[in-house]
Amino acid sequence: MSKEVILTGIRANNDLTIGNYFGAIMPIIDMAVHRSNDYQVNLFVPDMHSFTTPIDHSKLQSQIMHNLRKFTAAGLPLDITDVHIYRQSHISAHSELTWILDCFTGVGEMNRMTQFKDKASKLSDDRVSVGLFNYPVLMASDILLYGASYVPVGEDQTQHLEFTRDIAERMNIRFGELFTVPKPVKEQHEFFGNDQGLRIKDLMDPNKKMSKSDDSDKGVIFLGDSPDEAAKKVMGATTDSLGSIRYDWNNQPGITNLLQILALLTHRSQAEVNNEWEGKERYGDLKSAVAEATTRFLNDLQAKLAQVDDNAILAKLESSQAAMRDIAGQTLLKVQKAVGLR
Ligand code: TYM
Repeated sequence: MSKEVILTGIRANNDLTIGNYFGAIMPIIDMAVHRSNDYQVNLFVPDMHSFTTPIDHSKLQSQIMHNLRKFTAAGLPLDITDVHIYRQSHISAHSELTWILDCFTGVGEMNRMTQFKDKASKLSDDRVSVGLFNYPVLMASDILLYGASYVPVGEDQTQHLEFTRDIAERMNIRFGELFTVPKPVKEQHEFFGNDQGLRIKDLMDPNKKMSKSDDSDKGVIFLGDSPDEAAKKVMGATTDSLGSIRYDWNNQPGITNLLQILALLTHRSQAEVNNEWEGKERYGDLKSAVAEATTRFLNDLQAKLAQVDDNAILAKLESSQAAMRDIAGQTLLKVQKAVGLR
């Protein structure tokens, strides 16, 4: 029997953030390192998703390579056969399946996607692309082509995962067993050992998520930030005037975000970090602890980045892409036959 598939993608629209790192990169690398005997693990760059909102296209190629280097520096093993890295645009089945699924997707369904509404509201009407609207369908194709059961993503992608399950079930009911339906989101969280999807908040505005595509980067820690620069961002984080540290997303989102980041950076449980800090009054001490942990984390990652071998990445891309073209092509053919194209 073939192995179950764990799969995720990270766009290359900008440098990666600690949100991407802890929300998606680390969970999948952890699986690649510890569970590739039992699972096939796919980490890919959805390069065609990278310009659903406007970017500087002259930088896309180098950004893709930067991201692949970061995956490697973060510990992605390139020498394991069942671990794959690839670029979406190099496997044409992603676009082809998207068109077919588009024709079974309702406009109303896409209109309800909160990420679309959120991103569209920040752009003038003539810059809101059909690609942004259609983003979840391409994402569903990315997942369904490989029959993925588990998809580690941050909390902001939950609705897109639910849509992927919906369209897979809809197609299966209509045409017979075409797709593996990804596991329900709750089961996915259990599989990755969480009670919910992760959402690291912006340091300046802790009511919104830390995002690599924001205009202002003052509240965003990028993996390529100099450790000093990142520490300054932490020290400037927005908190509150309550004067007592408590893990409480509703009333103290800034402080709670710092506690969350500290737990992630120091590999401790949230409960342990909360125990150490709750009830203390000096916000500056908490910020210093987070700044120090951030500095250590970035120094370590950036030292590893300097050691990465580009040739090893390029060789792995070639072999993974050849293998993935095969798998994706088989799924696509099944769908093409089902809808009467073949
Ligand atoms: P992207 O590049 O916008 O985000 C990559 C991953 O990082 C997670 N993430 C966060 N997690 C926690 N806190 C944050 N502040 C934070 N910011 C980002 C995102 O949830 C995501 O998991 N649509 C995907 C890309 C994609 C994809 C796929 C993923 C395309 N096709 C198929 C899985 C399967 C995205 O959001 O990329």
